[in-house]
Amino acid sequence: MSEKTIDSTLSEQRVFQPPASFSVKARIGSLAEYQKLRAAAAADPAGFWAALARSEIDWHKDFSVALDAGKAPHYAWFTDGVLNVSYNCLDRHLARRADKTAIIFEGENGDTRRLSYADVHRQVCLFANALKAKGIGKGDRVVIYMPMVPEAVVAMQACARIGAIHSVVFGGFSAESLKDRIEDAGATAVITADGGTRGGKVVELKAACDRALAKGCKTVETVIVLKRAGNAVAMQAGRDHWWADTVRGQAEHCDPVWVESEHPLYLLYTSGSTGKPKGIQHASGGYLLGALVTMKWVFDIQDADIFWCTADVGWVTGHSYVAYGPLAAGATLLMYEGAPTVPDAGRFWDICARHKVTIFYTAPTAIRALMKLGEEFPNKYDLSALRLLGTVGEPINPEAWMWYHRVIGKERCPIVDTWWQTETGMIMLAPVPGAVPTKPGSCTLPLPGIDADVVDEQGTSVTDPNQGGQLVIKQPWPSMLRTIWGNEQRYRDTYWAKFSGRYYVAGDTARRDADGYFWIMGRADDVIKVSGHRLGTMEIESALVAHPRVAEAAVVSRPDDIKGEAVFAFVVTKGERPRNDSARALTDELRAWVSQQIGPIAKPDDIRYAENLPKTRSGKIMRRLLRAIARGEPITQDISTLENEDIVKQLQGER
Ligand code: WT7
Repeated sequence: MSEKTIDSTLSEQRVFQPPASFSVKARIGSLAEYQKLRAAAAADPAGFWAALARSEIDWHKDFSVALDAGKAPHYAWFTDGVLNVSYNCLDRHLARRADKTAIIFEGENGDTRRLSYADVHRQVCLFANALKAKGIGKGDRVVIYMPMVPEAVVAMQACARIGAIHSVVFGGFSAESLKDRIEDAGATAVITADGGTRGGKVVELKAACDRALAKGCKTVETVIVLKRAGNAVAMQAGRDHWWADTVRGQAEHCDPVWVESEHPLYLLYTSGSTGKPKGIQHASGGYLLGALVTMKWVFDIQDADIFWCTADVGWVTGHSYVAYGPLAAGATLLMYEGAPTVPDAGRFWDICARHKVTIFYTAPTAIRALMKLGEEFPNKYDLSALRLLGTVGEPINPEAWMWYHRVIGKERCPIVDTWWQTETGMIMLAPVPGAVPTKPGSCTLPLPGIDADVVDEQGTSVTDPNQGGQLVIKQPWPSMLRTIWGNEQRYRDTYWAKFSGRYYVAGDTARRDADGYFWIMGRADDVIKVSGHRLGTMEIESALVAHPRVAEAAVVSRPDDIKGEAVFAFVVTKGERPRNDSARALTDELRAWVSQQIGPIAKPDDIRYAENLPKTRSGKIMRRLLRAIARGEPITQDISTLENEDIVKQLQGER
């Protein structure tokens, strides 16, 4: 995050009280109530979570152990409890809500479907039986590579129903990325679609899947293909099956497989400091509890709400607040497959108006992009059903916050700026909307049971207001990651080693103001956030150096008005440094290459060529210098160690 952004949030003084009209109807309607919950949780964290687990979850068999910290940093929750997540999301609602709409779906071209709880339950049972018929069962890994259609949720829920561990791979990732994830997870099945639609174009998912499987993925025996976009696909006999064929003739009933609370519910790959994405592993009981209580605390979910989280199911937000949380809460959720600007920049607001969305949750990057296109778009639609707005994925700048507040929320809707991570499973820092006053750009305060702090390099709490430090969580919480799939050491090193196992290290820097409000400053590691998507700079570097013409590459970020951060790559080529036309041609080629290696989201926005990269005497790339150059800032670093100071001029773009 740039100095400018830190300054602008540092000088932010505005405070917005929860509207009284909101608070009176809210589940938690006053600061006192919120503080009471926090105090109860702080006094007895395990007891607090255990009581919630009993009131919120239907257990097949109750637990006697709330928290097992014996194998720290592997914390286990509700260990001897037995449950099924899909049962908790579907079956338990059938008595009272069988006909209630569970999912409202809208495609980009306007096709709309409404599925009741009974419908979703039936589809999940059919598909669970189809998976069983293919020999898939408890503990097997199933990769889901699908567009944002209800069947993606059905597939996830069906896995949960039979105890299979799903790993959803975002449809925007390339065949190469898909292959890496399938292989790391050792998946035996892949569920995909012929294609998805975005921005009027068909994203050919099955074709990408075929390319991935052609390169390896020896464990995959079954591929199930949903017909969605209608594009032609190749089907390999024996391995590939159409979704419709697999469910034909299956029973509409499927007994849930009861699993122990710690049974892995899913893996979700995310980027870290090193080249390889890590498979974040979540457990059943604790994760479900986190997704469900935050639906209540942060989104104040009520029976009549229409809840729309715009995240794709390929990200954790789409797991907790599309596929699991809303269904566990018995809510109505909206899913949209398509771009926010088709047919124009009013699409989100048009959907909100037509479907009477009451809670809208999206990414700052989307708000900034739509803000730029003008308020005439939202102003065309009746947004009066909205009562609560949310943001997630990256810091929101006060200007975008104010626009969201004024133009979308009509100064009537609280905004919940929610800080959390793939690893945390649930929202951790956010205002409880009927209780906690908000400040533009701050994710405010921790939720009950979340012991968050900002510490210095020694692990001591930073007590001076507005002093930056490491964001840490000092007590385990139920929806925390359990490990990195197949990489125990990396789990310990990444999240626990820094403060000798005492605290969970989030990898973000943050500060707290005089009121104790948290302000996220950015990542402390080599992770960047581009349009809210988490990318490892090392991952992009390895993709670049895999190109035959690239000798060396260093990737940093620079601020971007809409995307938050943009990808900036410095490249050393084999042979002569390209200039002018040859540089432009290579840049196009490298952008396409990275797209193919990782996915279009990782494409560098800028590429600069130099004869060398700036390194210290010990050979470490001077990343701080590169960041300053990418931002066009004056150079304050000592560059006397550089072998060739002219390199700096080349990196700065001088010919
Ligand atoms: C990283 C986690 C959380 C689900 C989607 C992203 C950044 C997330 C905020 C926020 C400032 C935020 C952090 C975090 N981040 N929410 N409200 N304010 N920064 O999950 O891909 O695992 O990324 O996103 O840097 O560590 P993720």
